[in-house]
Amino acid sequence: MSTFIPPNERRVQSPHLPFGDQRGAPFYGNDILSVLQFNREDLDYIFEVAKEMRAMVERVGTFDLLKGKILANLFYEPSTRTSSSFFSAMERLGGSVIPINEVHYSSVAKGESLPDTIRSLECYADVIVIRHPEVGSAKLASEYAQKPVINAGDGPGEHPTQALLDLFTIMEELERVDGLTVTMLGDLKHGRTVHSLARLLSLFVVRLNYVSPEILRMPSELIEDLSVQGVSQKEFRELDEVLPETDVLYVTRVQKERFEDPKEYEKAKGAYVITPQTMQKAKDEMIVMHPLPRVGEISMELDQDPRAAYFRQMEYGLYLRMALLAMVLGKA
Ligand code: ASP
Ligand code: CP
Repeated sequence: MSTFIPPNERRVQSPHLPFGDQRGAPFYGNDILSVLQFNREDLDYIFEVAKEMRAMVERVGTFDLLKGKILANLFYEPSTRTSSSFFSAMERLGGSVIPINEVHYSSVAKGESLPDTIRSLECYADVIVIRHPEVGSAKLASEYAQKPVINAGDGPGEHPTQALLDLFTIMEELERVDGLTVTMLGDLKHGRTVHSLARLLSLFVVRLNYVSPEILRMPSELIEDLSVQGVSQKEFRELDEVLPETDVLYVTRVQKERFEDPKEYEKAKGAYVITPQTMQKAKDEMIVMHPLPRVGEISMELDQDPRAAYFRQMEYGLYLRMALLAMVLGKA
């Protein structure tokens, strides 16, 4: 689908509705390209559906809500969680998947363009999930697709479904968002998950702390946008300054693949390492999150700490992505 429809103007876009599809269902036929699409009411709805999905998975494991529907899972960049959780989500909903996890074995290797790849896949699928190294690639894909396109990460741009699952994690773990202090740590320049999450959190009354090396600061454009919205934001170089007041510590990997100069990466990579000793200064009731993969920023000894929420976070992602697939396909 090519254009984003504001929440209050959402409408069914396709005149060809298979039997059982719900005309007028929220998000039916919509792309998911950016967290800027969502308001708080949307989030409440998505999280309610995600909770229903969890209950169904716990009760029956797999069910036939999306029987007959096909997902094209198109990944131009490596992925473990996003790719397999969308795959699993579709299978648990009774649908099936065309997995293109290694584009080098597809006609992309022959030089096929993104628009042509998208136009081909939508002949065979009902929804397309795409991860691509360029900012704006998912939006470009959506401009050529008649079917819904879901952004699974566009370079250092956005990772909206990750931000939704991150927020769902915070709500489930801490039972609120308003009033929380969220500290984002690591590569805030290139990290698409923090870009999306900070923007999504701006819908709530939160305090945001950004802790990073000087060269990996949060983009000034994002900080300015959130300032205009009245969000409280502060930047730091050291975690110690803010850890005691932090309710959510969101740790990120230094994004090696986004550095032009490998020496700069070498300098930045070990900047922060969270260990059980680091956590002595943290509150008892708080959580540590990470979109994963981790490459040394959180020591494995921390995994036993009940505050370590990063593996639970992954599981919330399955339910959240089941909800999104059901919604864009008009079944929720
Ligand atoms: N998996 C996340 C992403 O694709 C975070 C990361 O790779 O560091 O953005
Ligand atoms: N969180 C996340 O996007 O993980 P993958 O890169 O493994 O998909």
